[in-house]
Amino acid sequence: MAKLGELRPVSIEDAGSVAALARDVAADLVVIGPEAPLAAGVSDRLRNEGFVVFGPSRSAARLEWDKAFSKDFMKRHGIPTAASATFHAAELAAARTYLRDASLPIVIKASGLAAGKGVVIATTLGEAMEALDGMLSGETFGDAGATVVIEEFMQGEEASIFAVTDGERYALLAPSQDHKRVGDGDTGPNTGGMGAYAPAPIVTDELLALARRDIIEPTLRGMAAENNPYVGCLYVGVMVADGMLRVVEFNSRFGDPETQVILPLLESDLAALLYAAAAGDVTAAGPTGSSGSAVCVVMAASGYPGSYPKGDEITGIAAAEEVTGVVVFHAGTRAEGERIVTNGGRVLGVTAISGGTDLGAVIGSAYAAVEQIAFAGAQYRHDIGARAAEHQKA
Ligand SMILES: Nc1ncnc2c1ncn2[C@@H]1O[C@H](COP(=O)(O)OP(=O)(O)O)[C@@H](O)[C@H]1O
Ligand SMILES: [Mg+2]
Repeated sequence: MAKLGELRPVSIEDAGSVAALARDVAADLVVIGPEAPLAAGVSDRLRNEGFVVFGPSRSAARLEWDKAFSKDFMKRHGIPTAASATFHAAELAAARTYLRDASLPIVIKASGLAAGKGVVIATTLGEAMEALDGMLSGETFGDAGATVVIEEFMQGEEASIFAVTDGERYALLAPSQDHKRVGDGDTGPNTGGMGAYAPAPIVTDELLALARRDIIEPTLRGMAAENNPYVGCLYVGVMVADGMLRVVEFNSRFGDPETQVILPLLESDLAALLYAAAAGDVTAAGPTGSSGSAVCVVMAASGYPGSYPKGDEITGIAAAEEVTGVVVFHAGTRAEGERIVTNGGRVLGVTAISGGTDLGAVIGSAYAAVEQIAFAGAQYRHDIGARAAEHQKA
């Protein structure tokens, strides 16, 4: 980012500081990326001051920051999702009874924001009870776990569908899939995402049409009808099984690392699209198709998603970017003089982009770039996109 523009350190959850910066640079458009500032109402403050803002209001972003609200909303509007029940801290006994009667595996979710760590898929009753107790007591996630959603386990394959919307009309971006588990073959603990690719061949045109009709359109209509219009990027996490879709969750923003592979495929100008949505008519951006394919391999620090060291020197980024079509996105890095050092769990998103549709070739470029990069204890998955490339060949 430092190469592309001026960096200004502000606390992004502090609406006053963000508004002061927006005034200072006379911002034509403010794009709010992550969920925390949305949940903190930064978009509302900026809109009140007259700025054009891409990102939902605090109350519309509730589709992400309050899973209990989101499940109720889906029930009210007949949007397909896993069966569930919600329990508050004072309802521990009822929640325990519900778990005893449920079939396994069962999914226990902290309702609030938990940085991607608030979901437990329990395969035994003991595990389920432990997760429930930890959440409802406030021990594991504080207030974010004081309400829990207990949910039926859905079989299937997950995919992500992003809609950029002005609250009524919307543009779909390329469907994608990410890889959540830390290890090859989907093993080991869940992470924020170890890689992604787009388009995801599993999301056929038929399934996209279903997503529009049964999920995205009723969601936008429902939010508008409840005087809670949704403006921004609606991220729909879906479970695909037997030619059907059900919602796993909504996010109120672009997701990581899917964004790294979706946005490069957009044929039109991203800023124009976001501006049009924020200004109230997404169709003003004109056609917004996507083409080509992209793969992102996340390089993480050793120990991630547990604790990990920081400050290790990274070499080879320039060489990696010499591989045709490769862009290296920095996630957890810091400049130290001339050197770039690690500064987070997920360090780099090594992304290969191609105008062609052969996923196997793009995967090859991404890994050729990864091999150029080194830092102490670097870990990454070796099978990003492999299953989809197989699908494609078949
Ligand atoms: N009902 C469910 N059935 C099967 N897997 C689920 C279910 N709910 C969540 N998961 C799994 O847990 C992950 C995290 O859950 P999600 O609802 O997306 O919460 P968050 O992203 O906020 O942690 C999902 O990506 C999915 O792999
Ligand atoms: Mg999720």
